[in-house]
Amino acid sequence: KGRPRVLSGIQPTSGSFHLGNYLGAVRQWVDLQEANDAFYMVVDLHAITVEQDPAVLRQNTRISAAQLLGAGLDPERCTLFVQSQVPEHAQLAWVMNCLTGFGEAARMTQFKDKSAKQGSDRTTVGLFTYPVLMVADVLLYQADAVPVGEDQRQHLELTRDLADRFNTRYGQTFTVPEPYILKATAKIQDLQDPAAKMSKSAATDKGLVNLLDPAKTSAKKFKSAVTDTDTVVSYDEAAKPGVSNLLRIHSALSGRSVDELVAHFEGKMYGALKTELADLFTEWVTPFQARTQQYLDDPAELDRVLALGAEKARAVAAETLAEVYDRVGF
Ligand code: ADP
Ligand code: NA
Repeated sequence: KGRPRVLSGIQPTSGSFHLGNYLGAVRQWVDLQEANDAFYMVVDLHAITVEQDPAVLRQNTRISAAQLLGAGLDPERCTLFVQSQVPEHAQLAWVMNCLTGFGEAARMTQFKDKSAKQGSDRTTVGLFTYPVLMVADVLLYQADAVPVGEDQRQHLELTRDLADRFNTRYGQTFTVPEPYILKATAKIQDLQDPAAKMSKSAATDKGLVNLLDPAKTSAKKFKSAVTDTDTVVSYDEAAKPGVSNLLRIHSALSGRSVDELVAHFEGKMYGALKTELADLFTEWVTPFQARTQQYLDDPAELDRVLALGAEKARAVAAETLAEVYDRVGF
């Protein structure tokens, strides 16, 4: 094997990605495609663990793929595909389900949180086995590293445990992947509630920067971001979470260090930081939206790119699944 293999996925549930998705995940994917053999997917199988309107899901899957391309994923340099177009994911998930303890799955904190919010009648068995599908996603490609957020660490541990368990029981089959936890600097908070992370499930979208919203709408959100009653631009996550969040976003978009920015804004008020940030964001998002729109305006081209990605993915996935089936006794 040559270059390290990485794999990651993103859910198509919201249509537009938000700035946290981009700075916390997608942007790193773009960087990682250079030095790695990278597999990236839109995880529509994961999306149906909660109820989806079919037409909306189909549309959001396309919009998600278009945004990944718009953000800079290059089908020549990575494998980009839609999870449901590679049936091996569901097939391997079944095998791994049969290797997972019920109690082991029941200990997954994300399941406990989500199911507690939904109540047991609305919680699907799919949501329960969601982490096992994720295990299959990773192991199918023999991934060496999985770039994920801190919230996915437990699922990564399960992946390693199950890979080891399978290898011990049936013989060496799977690469045991390393977590590649994405940098904390990429953690983006809600602009109106800087104590909470920016999330599509926030109660209101006032502090949520959607990448496909008109740039003017987002610029306004930056300009009315919640800060504090102090006036000095400095970095202090505990005492000045709003300003610190704005500095992190600025740093991520401008490539300048937070220290450099603090010096740059010395003697200036918060308004200067907000205005500069609104301009920086607009400068980045305008060409991003144009590239995304190109793919949405040309459905045949988008289909072609995704079909090619699925074909490349299946070549690898089918090989792993054949070995697994053989070892299991099928
Ligand atoms: P949401 O939290 O809005 O539901 P997802 O869970 O679909 O978003 O996240 C998709 C990817 O984006 C994950 O890799 C996740 O770690 C990353 N991500 C989501 N929100 C943020 C955030 N506020 N800051 C940094 N990364 C984030
Ligand atoms: Na989330």
